[in-house]
Amino acid sequence: MGIGGGNVMDVAKALSLMFTNEGSSVQYQGLNLIKKPGIYHCGVPTISGTGAEVSMTAVLTGPVKKLGLKCDWTVFDQIVLDPDLIATVPNDQWFYTGMDTYIHSVEAITGTKKNTFAEAYSEKSLELCREVYLKRERSEPKSDELLMVASYMGGLSLTYSEVGVCHALSYGLGKVLEMHHCFANCVAFNQLEDVYGEYVQEFKHMVKERGIHIPANLAKDWDEATLDAMAEVAYNLPHMWDHAFGPDWQKVLDRERIKGWYRRM
Ligand SMILES: [Fe+2]
Repeated sequence: MGIGGGNVMDVAKALSLMFTNEGSSVQYQGLNLIKKPGIYHCGVPTISGTGAEVSMTAVLTGPVKKLGLKCDWTVFDQIVLDPDLIATVPNDQWFYTGMDTYIHSVEAITGTKKNTFAEAYSEKSLELCREVYLKRERSEPKSDELLMVASYMGGLSLTYSEVGVCHALSYGLGKVLEMHHCFANCVAFNQLEDVYGEYVQEFKHMVKERGIHIPANLAKDWDEATLDAMAEVAYNLPHMWDHAFGPDWQKVLDRERIKGWYRRM
């Protein structure tokens, strides 16, 4: 049983698979590399937004890669969604983590792999995020329930599509600077108006409405080696760039362009 946030649930999913698949989990980082189904596993989120309760990926940070074990058997056999369990999440975490599902939903429908399933789940998730972060108080009845379902729907949108630029950049921040995934997403998304346009404006609106602080000018403390290391992590996520820019993504994207995005943060 994985009771907790995205990391804990992902580790539970990975453990389930590693009970039945031999060797190190490092060798299974990627798509459909797992050979056998895992043991029965159950997820209980205590913070909402990552979609780890429903996704078919168990994100792991290995010695070289930050990449998930992704296959049909990763998915939990059972989940328990109880809004009472997220009632005491601190306000900033509640926002950052909720924005993970907002960003999943945006990325799922703004790339080459989008399809009607992804759009249906994304649009519902975005609608629920707007309800939670723009239209109601957190203390109102059902607010946490709506967020839990938004996280679930945003996670499902990725079952049918893919994440894009923001998550690729976020993985670099996570791997090199050990920045928390959802917080890193917010730092990156805040600077991606050239890619995600009005969605970034809406994100900034939600940040303002909720009085949340998203740091900027972090890049002034990053030396060239740090930028290179983060760009290398991000560049080596071809499935995300393929989704964002199409199969010829290497024609429009190089490490310098990635570093340019990091320098804005
Ligand atoms: Fe995410």
